[in-house]
Amino acid sequence: MKRTHHCNELRIEHTGQEVTLCGWVHSRRDLGGVLFIDIRDREGRTQVVFDPSLLPNEVFESAASLRSECVIMVKGKVRTRPEGTTNPKIATGEVEVVANSLDILNRAEVLPFPVDDPQIAAQVSEDLRLQYRYIDLRRPEMARNLRIRHNVATATRMYLDEQGFIEVETPTLFKSTPEGAREFIVPCRLNPGLFYALPQSPQQFKQILMVAGIEKYFQLARCYRDEDLRADRQPEFTQIDIEMSFIERKDIYNLIEGLLKRLWKVAIGIDIETPFPRISFNEVMNRFGIDKPDTRFDLELIDFTDIFKDSGFKLFANIVSEGGVVKAMNAKGLACATQGQMDAINEIGKNFGAKGVAWIKVENGVWNSPLVKFFSENEKSQLQKKLNIEDGDLILFSAGPWLQACEILGRVRLYCADLLKAQGKLNIPSNKFNFLWVVDFPLLSWDKENNRWYSSHHPFTAPLPEDIPLLLSDPKKVRGQHYDIVVNGVELGGGSIRIHQPDVQKTVFEEVLKIPSDIVKARFGYMLEAFKYGAPPHGGIALGFDRLVAMLCGTPSIRDVIAFPKTAKGTCLMTGSPGNVDAKQLRDLHIEVKLPHKETIKKVN
Ligand code: AMO
Repeated sequence: MKRTHHCNELRIEHTGQEVTLCGWVHSRRDLGGVLFIDIRDREGRTQVVFDPSLLPNEVFESAASLRSECVIMVKGKVRTRPEGTTNPKIATGEVEVVANSLDILNRAEVLPFPVDDPQIAAQVSEDLRLQYRYIDLRRPEMARNLRIRHNVATATRMYLDEQGFIEVETPTLFKSTPEGAREFIVPCRLNPGLFYALPQSPQQFKQILMVAGIEKYFQLARCYRDEDLRADRQPEFTQIDIEMSFIERKDIYNLIEGLLKRLWKVAIGIDIETPFPRISFNEVMNRFGIDKPDTRFDLELIDFTDIFKDSGFKLFANIVSEGGVVKAMNAKGLACATQGQMDAINEIGKNFGAKGVAWIKVENGVWNSPLVKFFSENEKSQLQKKLNIEDGDLILFSAGPWLQACEILGRVRLYCADLLKAQGKLNIPSNKFNFLWVVDFPLLSWDKENNRWYSSHHPFTAPLPEDIPLLLSDPKKVRGQHYDIVVNGVELGGGSIRIHQPDVQKTVFEEVLKIPSDIVKARFGYMLEAFKYGAPPHGGIALGFDRLVAMLCGTPSIRDVIAFPKTAKGTCLMTGSPGNVDAKQLRDLHIEVKLPHKETIKKVN
């Protein structure tokens, strides 16, 4: 079974050569008794001609019996296609192979969905595609995604190798970590009652590798998080995980800018501009109301706190007197929003705990709004000036505590951008990549329910040196040396400079985060101890590899760039995981399953 060429290889210069091709029957056409079959392998397609006048009867009949996706080997002679029959859509479109023999290597049953028609495939339910993933992956669009993924992985390894990094594998049987997400736990036959946890990331191991003197570590690391799943989240996913010793934040910025520049060039031939802008958390929240802004379009938030502090509109004035803010944005051209859309905007406010979202619709020179009668002339003229109000605009307000008011308008901004884009009033170019660093995050965030501070990133993030004295006296003001890399509204990655002094780390665990000391000892004792034996200053970052590849493939769902992803319910429809285990396995693992409310174990498919 020896191929002479792959199916994307033959060109005019091969004319006259005897060739052997192997692959799948992509499509077939019968033109006046002559059969035209496109044979496809992972590289591409070639047209093969079965002409009954040139073939023994049984070979032609065998060809006539082929259906889509049969696996075949064809021998034949390359010929230049007759004038007017070339196909500019495929690379081999100027030639065809005139078959003189055919081996059917395997037959295929009627497929659950076609491989050869992207339009029909686009209408197939994703569940069906996931159940028959091996067929879905034959589709050229999916095969291309996996190829890009491979190229990006290879280029990443080459780039980091050139920069002096070494790849080190870290365990995936680990123990509970405090990185925020729920974990998958794994029972352990040899240690009854104890559990491993699958790592949410290799965070602790990579820091220990710095103590071990590795200096520049990376890994294409598999991570596991038992989170609610969405288009950009999978329970198991891959990170480009990086850690370096003796560095500052700017070393990470330079390294990652170089890496992304290389990857964009290798994968899609685009030169991205570096360095990326660096914007503080406060500024992105103030301007975009979100910490991962899509800056390809404006619709920015404007602050009116000062202007409304003594307003006749008491709701705004009271909020300001209580320390809150008033923010507004101009959804340009959206005065035509329907009642349903206005309700949806209001609902965003309510979901964040506000009363709603106040509005002005500017139509035929009139400001229609229940609010306007309370506004002074000065307030109106300030709105007019700062929001550049014109006929057809929709002005939206959010007033309340700073973070809440920003977040509400941030969501409203994205919702309005979608509406405006659908109406053709806002251009958000898909081939433009707006990268930026978000920096100076608060080290800590307040957990209202449990009345305590928690780490905005993770507890290993170092405070800015000048803010260390505030750790105990004024934790709210402490800024972390944490950075996120964002592109087109997607959080591609995040990292930080770490705490490397054991006493500072212990203070953060016990006195700031209020983790009881016996738990600190059990969970992180080994880390605190390691830091006592010469821990270098260090820092790092992890990029979401699946998100990065999805961005390069131009798809919004990371499921499209993962060979065997899980559904939103965390199941694999092809293999039927998660699945049952038998009673003996459970006994060996010292596990007893108790389901609440007589619930029975459901099978995945
Ligand atoms: P973080 O938790 O921010 O940082 O994760 C880094 C990046 O990983 C990607 N990511 C995901 N991708 C797919 N599915 C998921 N469920 C998922 N969760 C996260 C995102 C995210 O930006 N150890 C730290 C990094 C460090 O400090 O060096 C960490 O894991 O793109």
